Amino acid sequence: MKITYLGHAALSIDLNDVNLLVDPFITGNEKAAGIIDIDALNPDYILVTHAHQDHILDVEAIAKRTGATIVSNYEIATYYGNQGLQAHPMNHGGNWNFDFGRLKYTQAIHTSSFPDGSYGGQPGGFVLQTDTKRIYIAGDTALTMDMKLIPAEGQLDMAVLPIGDNFTMGIDDAVIAAKFLECDKILGYHYDTFGYIEIDHDRAKDAFEKAGKTLHLLDIGASLSL
Ligand code: NI
Ligand code: MN
Repeated sequence: MKITYLGHAALSIDLNDVNLLVDPFITGNEKAAGIIDIDALNPDYILVTHAHQDHILDVEAIAKRTGATIVSNYEIATYYGNQGLQAHPMNHGGNWNFDFGRLKYTQAIHTSSFPDGSYGGQPGGFVLQTDTKRIYIAGDTALTMDMKLIPAEGQLDMAVLPIGDNFTMGIDDAVIAAKFLECDKILGYHYDTFGYIEIDHDRAKDAFEKAGKTLHLLDIGASLSL
């Protein structure tokens, strides 16, 4: 599994022959300008955690061009399905076996309106289980006790956690989340994109290291492999 950071909360996940795109917000992210080209992304699936603009901005354009299947909560999947796009609806606690592996839609404490104010269902995250790896993509969320349920189903190889504070968990709550998740390898996201969520990278890495955990902060366009 190769995970490429596309900036903000956007990820590209390569699983052998299948590509998953998560929460594409690229054309609106000035930090990704000149680094990530949405026309170079060719996902088979687009995973959407919730309906906020900084997670869905490029979903429609990419799905229209590629025919990718949008996987999200019922309300978001229905919204895109009504536009004639391929969509697979899920809801909290539900699993589905896709051709690339199994996804579970997990709880998040956040909100989920579309940019026009219409209802985007309840926000979530995903657990992705492949033949060999298991990762958790938290989505935008506060620290929540529900995170303790995730390792009860199996050991995670990595957790992707928001660390930018203000709209989501900050660094210190994300360290507690990593403990709840019983996971030592964390990829941070949802930070530095705009002023409200700028972080001190050294302080963030130190906070995780003191807890015996490793925080990975990737440059936009950079990848890590599991
Ligand atoms: Ni959000
Ligand atoms: Mn967000």
